[in-house]
Amino acid sequence: MKKLIAVAVVVVLAGLLAFYGRDALDLYRLMDHISTSTEAKEADGGPWPRLSDACVGCHGVQGKSQHQGYPSLAGQPATYLANQLRNFASGARANPNMGPLAMTLSEADVQQLAAYFAKQSAAQNSSFKADPVLRDKGQRLALNGGCAACHGEGLMGRDQFPRLAGQGHDYLLAQLNAFAEGRRKDSTGAMTAIVSTLSADDRQALSHYLAALVPVAK
Ligand code: HEC
Ligand code: HEC
Repeated sequence: MKKLIAVAVVVVLAGLLAFYGRDALDLYRLMDHISTSTEAKEADGGPWPRLSDACVGCHGVQGKSQHQGYPSLAGQPATYLANQLRNFASGARANPNMGPLAMTLSEADVQQLAAYFAKQSAAQNSSFKADPVLRDKGQRLALNGGCAACHGEGLMGRDQFPRLAGQGHDYLLAQLNAFAEGRRKDSTGAMTAIVSTLSADDRQALSHYLAALVPVAK
């Protein structure tokens, strides 16, 4: 009797497989597709609705800004990005666009956004045409000023120090001026001290050099 049942089960299973085998395989493929595309979406900013979609209008697709006045976020160190989002939220760094937006972000959102943009590769600022004389002057100032000691090799940024290479020209100049005029401060006071040694012409030259500097792969 037992043997008969076992045989019957095998026959029924074989029959089921013959009829539904293809569907079972398709179902498996569908599940596989869903899980791989979910992984891909998470790598690219999480499933819809993506938090980073709210940033595209100003900071460009994947944080690669096409506008000299809006900073590129792609390839910035995660620590730096998270610090700035917290600074905007607390008002330590004042900006009418970023302040109200940053206030709506939870700490988990901040971490997720910082990790997402840090993972994107930094793009060359190809829409900016540097003045060759200003660029050369800026290069000398950057060497003498020891910018790489904090901002890293190739000025690609690390930890709490932002990438400067290939950043938007108007944005860079605005930040150097903000440090010079005391409108932006960093917690260590390092940038305020450094900028105090630079004239307005120096700040312009540095912005030309940095905007034109091609980001190197890290
Ligand atoms: C309406 C336009 C706008 C939107 C939308 C926007 N930003 Fe910004 N963001 C700016 C501007 C302008 C600045 C430069 C602020 C300044 O001059 O200090 C900035 C600066 C930043 C900075 C500092 C960059 C640096 O190099 O110091 C970070 C980080 C940032 N934004 C993240 C985000 C994130 C994340 C989002 C989406 C959740 C977002 N922003 C959406 C306009 C915007
Ligand atoms: C002692 C370390 C140190 C040195 C040296 C230094 N910086 Fe910085 N810099 C910082 C820190 C820290 C920040 C981020 C400030 C903050 O958190 O708001 C910064 C921010 C900046 C920013 C703003 C970037 C952005 O995305 O908003 C610019 C521009 C900049 N530095 C330019 C320079 C230049 C040009 C030099 C060399 C002449 C230089 N820095 C040298 C520490 C340094």
